[in-house]
Amino acid sequence: MLILGIETSCDETAVALYDSASHQVDQLVHTQVDIHAPYGGVVPELASRDHVTRLAPMIEHFLSERFIKPSELDGIAYTRGPGLIGALMVGACLGKSLAYGWGIPALGVHHIEAHLLAVMLEETQPDFPFVALIVSGGHSLLVHVKGVGEYHLLGETLDDAAGEAFDKTAKLLGLSYPGGPALAALAEQGDPKAYHFTRPMMHHPTCDMSFSGLKTQIAKTYAELPEDSCMADLAASFQAAVVDVLIAKSTRALKQVNSKRLVVAGGVSANQRLRRLSQTTFKKHGIDVVFPKLAYCTDNAAMVAYTGAVRMAAGEFDSDLSIQPKARWPLVDLRKPTS
Ligand code: KG4
Ligand code: ZN
Repeated sequence: MLILGIETSCDETAVALYDSASHQVDQLVHTQVDIHAPYGGVVPELASRDHVTRLAPMIEHFLSERFIKPSELDGIAYTRGPGLIGALMVGACLGKSLAYGWGIPALGVHHIEAHLLAVMLEETQPDFPFVALIVSGGHSLLVHVKGVGEYHLLGETLDDAAGEAFDKTAKLLGLSYPGGPALAALAEQGDPKAYHFTRPMMHHPTCDMSFSGLKTQIAKTYAELPEDSCMADLAASFQAAVVDVLIAKSTRALKQVNSKRLVVAGGVSANQRLRRLSQTTFKKHGIDVVFPKLAYCTDNAAMVAYTGAVRMAAGEFDSDLSIQPKARWPLVDLRKPTS
């Protein structure tokens, strides 16, 4: 199956092709950083408008550069939700319209399921079941994954998502948007032991997490700092606290379901400290940990095309022409692909 994937849930416009026969994927991502940077965060209306002007030419260019004719495609997978409703609407409208015009099926894909399955794009794929730590800008979840569509929630954040904590702390320290990766880069140059921040809920006997208190601690420390203090140390200490919590909670989740396999996904899985410490910590305990390639950690269409291919292969596709993006859509509402 050759599936065209479309991602427009937030501030990236992305298209991809996934060929299930060869397990090859190819993708193009356009980021809207320049548009939102002057505002210090994503402006939903500007995001939608940019998707509108960019998506159709991007698909045309992407396919023609690869000499792919619409008649060679077996389906179109677009992100149906969760995300910004106007932004989702753009991908859903164009994805379904093209599929209708080209006489092929369309399927609305769950963005978080796509993040979770992004590791399946690697050459060696983890076997089910496994525990997934999904950490993005809007979600922090620990899920027991028994198969595609078989998701049992083990824990989640009670307030801010891990990525959101990175973004808000970056803003607080005066770093420009997009803050999370900038803060992580700064943290790599600092001493993670310079300041001690509490690890929220780390010893709480559940897999739930909380990150909003951390930014309050940073704000207080930052306000009291002498002017010549090293910002990299503050960033590194914050990052160490978040990563410690993520590793401790993943360890708890693995124990809870007696699993030795962990998959980490979502934008925060690009974090170098999380990647490094996971490898050393989990290896010691005989746990296999898998991260997606960096290009598939943050928002992309490759994961959408792959997820669409898996579900379409089982005969799942949109049953009518109505456009129904979902701003909110719990992952656990998904079911096994219908076949
Ligand atoms: O998955 P993603 O691209 O979009 C959502 O679905 O939300 O995740 C974006 C989030 C942002 O909050 C961003 O700050 C965070 O991932 N992020 C990082 C890093 N790269 C992206 N957080 C920590 N370290 C990074 N290297
Ligand atoms: Zn995402």
